[in-house]
Amino acid sequence: MSLLDKTIVRLLPAVPRPVVRRLSARYIAGSELSDARRVVADLNAEGKLATVDVLGEEITRPAEAEAIARAYLDVLDAIDADGLDANVSVKLTGLGLKLDPELARANVEAIAARGTFVRIDMEDSSTTDATLELYRDLRAAGLENVGVVLQAALKRTVGDARALAGANVRLCKGIYLEPPELAFRDFEAVRANYVEALDALLEGGCYVGIATHDEWLVVQALRKVGQRGLGAHEYEFQMLLGVQTRLGDRLLAEGHRLRIYVPFGRQWYEYSLRRLQENPKVAGYIAADTLNRLVPGR
Ligand code: FDA
Repeated sequence: MSLLDKTIVRLLPAVPRPVVRRLSARYIAGSELSDARRVVADLNAEGKLATVDVLGEEITRPAEAEAIARAYLDVLDAIDADGLDANVSVKLTGLGLKLDPELARANVEAIAARGTFVRIDMEDSSTTDATLELYRDLRAAGLENVGVVLQAALKRTVGDARALAGANVRLCKGIYLEPPELAFRDFEAVRANYVEALDALLEGGCYVGIATHDEWLVVQALRKVGQRGLGAHEYEFQMLLGVQTRLGDRLLAEGHRLRIYVPFGRQWYEYSLRRLQENPKVAGYIAADTLNRLVPGR
């Protein structure tokens, strides 16, 4: 963590709410479903697909998990009503995984029953086994429209990728700070593991959501899908709202599918602070990006 990142993180809680709001506005659709609808419609008009994430804080009661599940059903209603080209991304802990895996399962089932594709985000390593297990249970029960996420930072990931033949998998680096016995810390080691995991997924016939803003990885991924002669509908690139839009636009112009992760919700403030504190590198990115926009040509 650089000195700048550390300083930003320490100062964060002292930053006035409106300032955090302004900084995060680029990365979060807004606090209401209507904000997400508008942002997704705009993305669709540019030829981009979307995945919608309902922001929620840690839950402690089943009723809170059920409320998040209901919020997702509202998102699905909106997707249908507006004819949006979008799916949803859910976090199992928000749906009750740590209270009772059966509750999380019932909530995912209720969301997936609507027929729209449901991506199960991957959270920290304390949830990896339970997440993969629940994903497998859902598939075994006949739910075709669910997919999962693997994190290249984790040392286990190439093995997990090999075991997921035929699945729909988002591959990302992983946002959580994990212990060194479980995860690579070195930037190049994470990249190398990403490429190996991508190979394993493509070898297993997976539909891969290549989720990264790292241009070097994007080039490697383009080479891999090119070598395998995959058509534009056999994989997709994925990026976060407001991040590396130029790279995304270039991929789109070259004929690749691009899906944008669109978070929204009333908990935008808590979410922004928590994500920034969890991974101070993100604070550094935002600071650098904000400076670049304030001081053009920097
Ligand atoms: P890297 O960190 O090297 O970033 C490359 C460049 O992109 C940076 O130099 C910076 O300019 C820019 N950048 C990256 N992240 C930024 C940010 N947040 N704000 C501003 N600029 C940024 N993780 C996870 O653990 N579980 C999950 O389910 C998901 N889901 C997910 C979905 C999608 C669509 C994406 C794109 C990412 C995730 N992630 C995730 C997050 C992912 O694991 C990872 O932390 C980030 O994508 C950053 O890694 P990059 O591969 O982009 O490379």
